[in-house]
Amino acid sequence: MIVLGIETTCDETAAAVVERTDDGHGRILSNVVLSQISEHAEFGGVVPEIAARAHVEVLDAIIARAMNEAGAVYERLDGVAAAAGPGLIGGVMVGLTTAKAIALVHHKPLIAVNHLEAHALTARLTDATPFPYCLFLASGGHTQILGVLGVGDYLRLGGTVDDAIGEAFDKTAKLLGLGYPGGPQVEKEAAHGDPERFALPRPMAGRHDANFSLSGLKTALRLEAEKISPLSDADVADLCASFQQAVAEVVMDRLRTGLKLFRERVGAPTMLVCAGGVAANQAIRKALHRVAFEIGISLVAPPPALCTDNGAMIAWAGAERLALGLTDPLSVAPRARWPLEEVAKPAQPVAAK
Ligand code: KG4
Ligand code: ZN
Repeated sequence: MIVLGIETTCDETAAAVVERTDDGHGRILSNVVLSQISEHAEFGGVVPEIAARAHVEVLDAIIARAMNEAGAVYERLDGVAAAAGPGLIGGVMVGLTTAKAIALVHHKPLIAVNHLEAHALTARLTDATPFPYCLFLASGGHTQILGVLGVGDYLRLGGTVDDAIGEAFDKTAKLLGLGYPGGPQVEKEAAHGDPERFALPRPMAGRHDANFSLSGLKTALRLEAEKISPLSDADVADLCASFQQAVAEVVMDRLRTGLKLFRERVGAPTMLVCAGGVAANQAIRKALHRVAFEIGISLVAPPPALCTDNGAMIAWAGAERLALGLTDPLSVAPRARWPLEEVAKPAQPVAAK
């Protein structure tokens, strides 16, 4: 089956066409992403109103390009999928309404995809990863450890109680006068810094749940920076290196606990999978490899372009749901908040392919 997917929940306007074969394999026919980073950079973060307007302006052209590059025509589509949340509501409305219009005009099924579910299922598009696997999702808006047991079947093992990891990177960068988005800048600075110079905390380490807390770490960093202000270039590099090391160690500790909870509740995971922009960070990747190695499983890391927000993941999640007969009425509402536990699952458990 062939599905068009639309993503507008944050600051990327994206559309893609993806094919799913009957045996569950995926192929990306086109994947067009337009980042709004430059429009938000001067504000040091995403401005919802600017984002929504920017989506309206470019979405039609992005969809046309995705259809064109895929050599697809609307009549040949099997479904139209859009991220219906969670995310910035103005943007979500733009993408979902557009998908509804296309579905209505061309008499195609609509699939309202949960953005987090799309991140969770991407490893099946890229690597045909079998269920059940453990997902570490870390982006600017989300930090979660999840059991991915089947389409629509997710077990939340842990999450952040305050800032997302990407958000902590972004705030650290802002504090140190580096650009937006902060993650890549902090990583670049950290490469020539001393990770041992500042004794930053490892929040939540050793706790029996698999939750994260990043705001204390960010505050500790600010206090260290204030103590030695004005900062030299070497100070900035050392602060970034110490921060990144603290985050990587926290990720290892929290994931070890998350994987332990997974084994207790589900059994052995097939793989450890990562998703979200933060997974592009090499120090964090190394930490993930190490944790996976310790328990004898592999790390599946989709290419960075599919780890960050994109249309292919929405189209793929749409195709996975459509294959199970999970479609949505045109009356489906966009949702700013939409926990994975509230995603509809198949009426009958389906043997995973
Ligand atoms: O998944 P994503 O592209 O967008 C959403 O937030 O949904 O993730 C963006 C986040 C930003 O907070 C960015 O700073 C962070 O991922 N990020 C990184 C790196 N590249 C992107 N964080 C740490 N190291 C990186 N290399
Ligand atoms: Zn995302």
